[in-house]
Amino acid sequence: MPGGIERHRACGGLARAREVDEARGFFRRERSRRVGHWSSWPTEGDGVGHSKYTARRMRAVDVIAKKRDGGPLTRDEIFFFVSGVTSGSLPEYQAAALLMAIVLRGMSAEETAWLTDAMVRSGARVDLSAIPGVKVDKHSTGGVGDKTSLVIAPLAAACGVPVPMMSGRGLGHTGGTLDKLEAIPGFRVSLSLDEMTAALRAVGCAMIGQTKEIAPADKKLYALRDVTATVESIPLISASIMSKKIAEGIDALVLDVKTGRGAFMKTEADSRRLAESLVSIGNASGVRTEAVITAMDQPLGRAVGNALEVIECVDVLNGGGPRDLVDVSIELTARMLAAAGVVSDRKAGESRAREAIGSGAGLERFRRIIEHQGGDPRIVDDYDRLPKAPGRQIVAAPRSGYVSRLDAELIGRASVALGAGRDRVEDTIDPAVGVMVVAKVGDQVRAGDAVLELHYRSAEKLDRAKSLAGEGLAISDAPPPAARLIVGEVH
Ligand code: URA
Repeated sequence: MPGGIERHRACGGLARAREVDEARGFFRRERSRRVGHWSSWPTEGDGVGHSKYTARRMRAVDVIAKKRDGGPLTRDEIFFFVSGVTSGSLPEYQAAALLMAIVLRGMSAEETAWLTDAMVRSGARVDLSAIPGVKVDKHSTGGVGDKTSLVIAPLAAACGVPVPMMSGRGLGHTGGTLDKLEAIPGFRVSLSLDEMTAALRAVGCAMIGQTKEIAPADKKLYALRDVTATVESIPLISASIMSKKIAEGIDALVLDVKTGRGAFMKTEADSRRLAESLVSIGNASGVRTEAVITAMDQPLGRAVGNALEVIECVDVLNGGGPRDLVDVSIELTARMLAAAGVVSDRKAGESRAREAIGSGAGLERFRRIIEHQGGDPRIVDDYDRLPKAPGRQIVAAPRSGYVSRLDAELIGRASVALGAGRDRVEDTIDPAVGVMVVAKVGDQVRAGDAVLELHYRSAEKLDRAKSLAGEGLAISDAPPPAARLIVGEVH
């Protein structure tokens, strides 16, 4: 486990309270200093920023060495790093070296708050006050088959919550909402901020990618981290997620922090620490934030791969779909409805969300969202309009028994190997390919039964995917113990 996570692990309850206070104090000072304006870099004379004088004297190699040796970075040094990444004046090899030093050495709550703030200030903070209602987004830390956004956004919008949802692309073995949406022919995720506001007014929801105005530093860092093995770090993940969420102009945020083999955080303790870090940054910066910790040991639902996942989401909005996907989607939607104040509490939110599925209101809203963003809404009624892979190959149970393990990370990597994700930033995605989970953990199978079905285009990619998927599968004589899906929550 990276040193950054170890550092956090060493913290007890008291240390955690101190970290929350540090973050809260930091954002309070920031807010009063800028009178609500976040869109500018600190300048000489505001008493906090890195002055031109400091920036001239600072050398990237010294900052890297300091963090490599476990030293705390100053606010100036963090701004120097983030502004260098944003402007392109800092070479990628130095940015990558510093990222790796952060992964290995960690960051304090205060450094993480500075990093988040610097990333917010690398772009604009959107003002959505002209849109009536409490604007709520949901964000997941990333998983395999984790497609809840495509269910939740239309459901919450259909229940009266304005949802400005800004999502990312696949990262490592995990999928990304934008890649899934782009599997829908014509769907445009790159809306401008004006178009996003227009979508919110027209259909109550915008499902978009990070615009160039929103945390541009994160956009560059995210791509770099993906290919330099520097994703798994609580401070980097916290700053990456929260900078975008703070900048997008929402009032409240529900986080789905994944835990387990297919998550960036493999243990419940680390996932909780990540959740606490995210929630404290959000609340301290004026975005009401809560987190649910959910299991990600096996893929969520049955579909892994972009078009396959779109189909599964439509199934859920139609009242079907796999139980685990339905349960997590309802849980998160219910919390969004309660956060927006359209229901009195989470329980009432759950009933309202289920009603929106039963009445077809959620599905109808999904059609309208697709149409508004240039996509073909007929995919909802006719799955043949979605890209389809030409080949199918099963991964069979090697013996009779119960499926005891479907390693989400290996299945995610199998899906990436088929072309559903990226190995390098410049790789293009094949929206049609992926993996279908035929038997879930706990299901009884006979030797030779299909456990997974690979949807592939190239035989060459199939071999690698098959061996990864086979490695991720285990059969036991007795049924495995039932695992919890909703593992915890953080307020
Ligand atoms: N999602 C993000 O937006 N950033 C990360 O670093 C990881 C997941």
